Amino acid sequence: MTARPGTIAIRGRLLSFDADPAIEAEARAVRFIEDGIVVVRDGLVAEVGEGPAIARRLDPGTPLVDHRPHLVLPGFVDPHLHLPQTQVIASYGTELMEWLQKYTFPEELRYGDSGVAGDAARFLLDTLAANGTTTAAVYCTSHPISAEAFFHEAGRRNLRMVAGKVMMDRNAPAGLLDTPQRGYDETKELIATWHGRGRLEVAITPRFAPTSTEAQLEAAGALAAEYPELPVQTHLSENAAEIAYVAEALPWSTDYTDVYERYGLVRPRALFGHCIHLTGRERAALAEKGASAIFCPTSNLFLGSGLYDLSASRAAGLMTGIATDIGGGTSYSMLTTAAEGYKVLALKGQKLPAFEAFHMLTAGNAAAMGLQDRVGRLAPGLEADIVVLDSRATEAMRRRMERVETLAEELFALMILGDERATVATYAMGRRIFDRHHAGRLAPKLDQPPQPKTPQGGESAQ
Ligand code: GUN
Ligand code: ZN
Repeated sequence: MTARPGTIAIRGRLLSFDADPAIEAEARAVRFIEDGIVVVRDGLVAEVGEGPAIARRLDPGTPLVDHRPHLVLPGFVDPHLHLPQTQVIASYGTELMEWLQKYTFPEELRYGDSGVAGDAARFLLDTLAANGTTTAAVYCTSHPISAEAFFHEAGRRNLRMVAGKVMMDRNAPAGLLDTPQRGYDETKELIATWHGRGRLEVAITPRFAPTSTEAQLEAAGALAAEYPELPVQTHLSENAAEIAYVAEALPWSTDYTDVYERYGLVRPRALFGHCIHLTGRERAALAEKGASAIFCPTSNLFLGSGLYDLSASRAAGLMTGIATDIGGGTSYSMLTTAAEGYKVLALKGQKLPAFEAFHMLTAGNAAAMGLQDRVGRLAPGLEADIVVLDSRATEAMRRRMERVETLAEELFALMILGDERATVATYAMGRRIFDRHHAGRLAPKLDQPPQPKTPQGGESAQ
């Protein structure tokens, strides 16, 4: 990796959100500068403003990257995905509980090998960068080595990443099970080694109630009490069979959320994946305790889990993030994720306007993760994680853009038609980690096993 740059200026059509356009007036929420410059100093945003004025005052010799006419946004934040599922994605024909047993757990067994986990971490971080995602909340496997490998790679790239060793002590193959004590000890060791190192944070990660005994949930709660600032991540109310199992296995619980409340896991920076079938009581409890619901639309459609109710969450004051959930989810692209979110909400008779969607992908997801003072906006003092997007990346997009008259229309077509092909460049702390003109050259590539010949020749499109 190259050294951190001193000062760099990035010019383009700047878009950032000071507030949620679902709550605040557009004029206050949306910050758009048609010709703007972000000045980055020592990895942090030093200044944001009008391009011509800043360009005149820049010290001579300051590198200036002119991305006009492309959009310059804060890097995308993906608040829920699984490192060991890059080779589970697109597995046929099951709902959650069978999908876990048939595809996911057998694959996760491989991640006790640091070579396997390291390869996956490199692939995942390369792919996130190619999609403009600079921060993520990542589930590794129950093997501490899988989290070590991920943190090692993310640290080398100086990325802001949250990850955890999954805690699971029942209902899975023996090779994936830890124990309450081991889950506790191994998470603690990870915290001691990695938490706060560079931009890395450890999340307390009990997979979900069906794979943790009450003794293990108690151990996760003990960690949460010892480390009140740490993120927590788990799954909640995704699938009917899952919910029925929790009700049967934990008959004392009022509802599924009550299980996590009982063990002190519902709090600020707790990320609850899915939250599809919540009751009003559960939404109110999550909201009151400052937790976040993470909407995973491609996963929810793919696994037939159900349709997230954004209006109900908003009415309850429950913060919502939106995530890929690789590999129940089917796309690494946050643009595609927003597009599928739009369609899920359409089936609920709800709307996801483009400004609200782009807010969610950036500042909203950062806030859901409790990282609003670090990433998610183009604002002085924040870390200079940036994505540059081309709304005319494909012929279909170019054609559509000819009929676009407003920024909101442009962004909507970008989110519906766009994917990783729209990524022009991605920056982490002001350092370019992806460039579509040099795709694959900025980060080490995975060694590929021999591939069968295909008519396309097997080279991935960028
Ligand atoms: N619930 C528990 N584990 C998982 C997982 O790996 N993916 C999804 N989508 N749901 C889960
Ligand atoms: Zn998940």
